[in-house]
Amino acid sequence: MSTRHAALILLIASALISPLPANENSDRSPVSIAIFANGTRLITANQTSGSVSLADTNSRKILHEINTGQKPAGIAVTPDGKTAIVSHWYGYDVALLKIEGDRLSILGRIEVGPEPRGIAISKDSNFAYVAVGVSDEIVRIDLPGLKVSARLTVGREPRSIAISPDGKTLVTTNARSKSFSVIDLANFQKLRDLPIDGDNLRQAAISPDGKYAYTVNMKNRGFATTRGNIDIGWVLGQRVTRAPLSGSDDEPYETLSLDPQGLAVGDVYGCAISPDGNHLALSAAGTHEVILLRLDLAPLPWRTNGSRDLLAGELARDNQRLRRIKTGGRPMELAFSPDGKTLYIANYFLNSVQTVDLANGQPTGEIQLGGPSSSSGPSLARKGEILFHDATRSFNQWYSCATCHADSHTNGLDFDTMNDGWHDLSTRHERSRKKVPTMRRVAKTGPWTWHGWQTSLDEAMIESFTKSMQGSEPSDDEVKEIVAYISSLDYPKNPYRTKDGSLTASAQRGKRVFESARAACNTCHGGPEFTDGKVHDVGLDEPGTRYKGHNPPSLRGAYDKGPYLHDGRAKTLLETLKGDHSPEKVTGLGELTDNELNDLVEYVKSL
Ligand code: HEC
Ligand code: HEC
Repeated sequence: MSTRHAALILLIASALISPLPANENSDRSPVSIAIFANGTRLITANQTSGSVSLADTNSRKILHEINTGQKPAGIAVTPDGKTAIVSHWYGYDVALLKIEGDRLSILGRIEVGPEPRGIAISKDSNFAYVAVGVSDEIVRIDLPGLKVSARLTVGREPRSIAISPDGKTLVTTNARSKSFSVIDLANFQKLRDLPIDGDNLRQAAISPDGKYAYTVNMKNRGFATTRGNIDIGWVLGQRVTRAPLSGSDDEPYETLSLDPQGLAVGDVYGCAISPDGNHLALSAAGTHEVILLRLDLAPLPWRTNGSRDLLAGELARDNQRLRRIKTGGRPMELAFSPDGKTLYIANYFLNSVQTVDLANGQPTGEIQLGGPSSSSGPSLARKGEILFHDATRSFNQWYSCATCHADSHTNGLDFDTMNDGWHDLSTRHERSRKKVPTMRRVAKTGPWTWHGWQTSLDEAMIESFTKSMQGSEPSDDEVKEIVAYISSLDYPKNPYRTKDGSLTASAQRGKRVFESARAACNTCHGGPEFTDGKVHDVGLDEPGTRYKGHNPPSLRGAYDKGPYLHDGRAKTLLETLKGDHSPEKVTGLGELTDNELNDLVEYVKSL
């Protein structure tokens, strides 16, 4: 038998007895990281390879890597270092992992609901908590039995979870509802929602004294994307925000604006506090850097119940208290070593975990997780993904495509990107603001923009770089790359279908309404993408608009695209179809009964 055959048989045999090792040549793209309590090991959730890597922090070597599921998103490890748990953003499940010696294996898995991301383990290792992004829940899993034992509704799109040092309180960041939720773990009850004024909330942290919840966020300021507006922080900006965990409900939150004029910060993501409480570390994924703030030297210039347009001058001039450290790539979640000496950075595009020495703020190297060989280099789509997340391509590096098209989807916010030929340079013009469309399957749903005037996707890319971003024009190759990237994006599986993927009874009735002569939804929302690619006047034109009518948006994934219509005027699908986009308003045909409407909503949710 040739050695090649022997190797093949060995490969098949090992595939049968243990999960396949990740493909050597695929990008790993780590997003989340957990450091073991004794500091000797770390474990990462690798989003694009669907794997988890276990590494030794001293030798900086990978000990083991296994495939765990579809788009790993969050990871946590028990204090004894023997068990870890990983959530799968597109898999809708979590996998419990056994760590024995240097080996990882899967002990079991459990479904938790649509788009789970943030995950944490209780101090006593009895429970894991998972933030489920689309059902807006924190799910409690009993670890010994691997059973879901409770669910709690929090804010919209809970994202990241932190547990207080005393183990009693859990905090979530709710990416789309401008709030933290605070949960009492003894009774698993929500104590309160802490409102803040911020969007795209990401990693959560709690100060070692248990007094504050911290996160990083974007703030949408609402003005048109002119260079003048961008540079004074009036389009959007990056913030770190904190809110007191105990105290009365109306106690204010505080923010620190991070953008200096001329060299802004893009797409904050990671947020971690050193064990001694002296250092606050933030990652800026879009500008490829980590920001270190000193909490112990002098009080930071927090702004109460609001925020400044720009970084406070006293911090801009003080490189003791604020340090910007270049990392390259796309730094995501952060974690401190237990001794507080080292900061670990999950770097998505570099396929590595980087380290920074806290004493001098210097990068000290990286642990390579693996990826394509240097000869093959990144694929066309990966190059496009890098461009899509690169804030340095916008005017003075304020934001990337992903700031608005968050997760390459939508954050439900609206912006005036001057794409409708109708805007006012100086004022907030509600009429020109448009809800951010998703990038999922966008290559299949032309024409583009809400008005549907844009018939070339390549041209749409150029407009996005030069108008929405006010940056330089992309090269022909770059247009190809970014089109390749967005063409690779699809929706996760629909959570409103039955287990075998079929329609519920209510959705089946709704489908008949959708296609009935009275509702006639399919005349405009027809075909495989639920859009006919034409422009229709459905009575929602603003007076004075340059382009008449709108292009029916694809109804795929509509359950997660709210608020609805081009200006986000309708909060829910029911409100959309009962209100300004009701069948009687759109087609002038018959009214639907409440039952028919409910069934119709069930059907639209299932698309
Ligand atoms: C400041 C927020 C913002 C940024 C940054 C941004 N976009 Fe958009 N994008 C929007 C909004 C809002 C619309 C809808 C505009 C309209 O219809 O008039 C849109 C529309 C689009 C569309 C058309 C989608 C459709 O279904 O019709 C594409 C494609 C697109 N953007 C890609 C990009 C790319 C690529 C980048 C980066 C080069 C980018 N966008 C940067 C907010 C943004
Ligand atoms: C005459 C064409 C037409 C018909 C018929 C029609 N729509 Fe629409 N639909 C549109 C257009 C155009 C828009 C975008 C309008 C806007 O936002 O200003 C839209 C928007 C929507 C949205 C909002 C999507 C989002 O992402 O914000 C939903 C949901 C929707 N339609 C569902 C339906 C349903 C259900 C029916 C049948 C009761 C229906 N539509 C009938 C053309 C149509």
